[in-house]
Amino acid sequence: MHGFETNKTSQSNSLDGFSKLTREQRYQKLLELGYINPVEYEFLRNEMPMDPHLADHFIENSLGFFKLPMGVAVHFKINGKDMVIPMVVEETSIIAAASKTAKWIKTSGEITTRSIGQDIIGQIQLAKVANPDFVMQTVLAQKIRLIEKANVIAQGMHARGGGVTDITARAIARPDGSSMVVFHVMMNPCDAMGANVINQVCEGLKPDIQELTGEKITMCILSNLVDTKLTEVKVVIRDIDPQVGKAIEEASLFAELDPYRAATNNKGVMNGVDAVLLATGNDWRAVEAGVHAYAVRDGQYRSITSWSMRGRDLVGYFRAPVVVGTVGGVTQLHPAARLNLNILGVKTAEELSHVAATVGLVQNLGALNALSSVGIVKGHMRLHSANLAMQAGAKPDELEEVQRVLQSLLDTQRKISVQDAKEILAFFRNNSDTKK
Ligand code: MEV
Repeated sequence: MHGFETNKTSQSNSLDGFSKLTREQRYQKLLELGYINPVEYEFLRNEMPMDPHLADHFIENSLGFFKLPMGVAVHFKINGKDMVIPMVVEETSIIAAASKTAKWIKTSGEITTRSIGQDIIGQIQLAKVANPDFVMQTVLAQKIRLIEKANVIAQGMHARGGGVTDITARAIARPDGSSMVVFHVMMNPCDAMGANVINQVCEGLKPDIQELTGEKITMCILSNLVDTKLTEVKVVIRDIDPQVGKAIEEASLFAELDPYRAATNNKGVMNGVDAVLLATGNDWRAVEAGVHAYAVRDGQYRSITSWSMRGRDLVGYFRAPVVVGTVGGVTQLHPAARLNLNILGVKTAEELSHVAATVGLVQNLGALNALSSVGIVKGHMRLHSANLAMQAGAKPDELEEVQRVLQSLLDTQRKISVQDAKEILAFFRNNSDTKK
């Protein structure tokens, strides 16, 4: 697959008009540009057959697979590299908005990314201890030995250059006036999300810590609030129309100051992030939990993105934990997730995390731009008209006609509903009956 690398970077503009192609033509275009190989091309053409036995391995009581739409967002250029980004999502406008906004950035600015920190966190809790200072000091005095033991447990990861790097301690006041102690085991998970390994490490250290302190360990589990491993994305749009830029800055301030708006803003960001996580077989619930916990870190729930004018440029940031894997979990076992990782061509979990966060920030820019100008209804409902037509019972050969009338209705009355679709459909059917 990666033998196609040269094409990938040199032919980005030939993805113009991608959305107008038939599905078959899209497969061919991806093949031609080296985003997929001939085996993957056949896999897509055959509607991605999934062996139900695979589902039996993933979960208990499996009944098979649930299908969601899978597509690609185009026109992304991240850190100077053109990328086609697979997304799995059911909401109509998401991929369209991501591609359109990415094109805007590509022609007028740039996207850069970086990581801040590398370690994930495992928690070891001692629910109620008589002398918290003694417990913390005793364990921390043995830190080097405990880290060595932890790295025997995390042997594979340690051999790959990662593993446990530190152990820290926190005392937390309980409502009854006594204290709980929590140890944080810090681990570099390399290209895995690291959940299973960190949990094993924490449970593996349990006997030693209990013996050292004479206290009982009550719980060992990773934390999803990974504020020690953040993903940062920066978007710059140069020389933006000052009115547009100012309106986006204002929309961003709204989400910074008001938790009611912040929740919706962040939902829009996660529209993009989750779609990439799903497409690559990652645990989107873990990332959701981490992002929202991080968004409320100063006591008020705030936006995880920010946009401001710097001179004549609009500059936006995403900063939050997005801990993902490119190995482990189902990332390599699920054939569609494997295909999507190949399309992305990412080499590391860090890169994948940057891509997911980028799609989130780009999605956010698209939403804020629409919300602060024409509003969300127009673009959203235009794309949603096919869903309305289908809900009204339109057959494939009736869809286009019903959609066309729905869209002109949207232009005149600025809203459309299933009821409108039903009436249009009834009108067409009556008319075609009369003609017969
Ligand atoms: C809808 O899925 C997402 C938006 O509500 C996001 C936002 O309001 O920023 C459009």
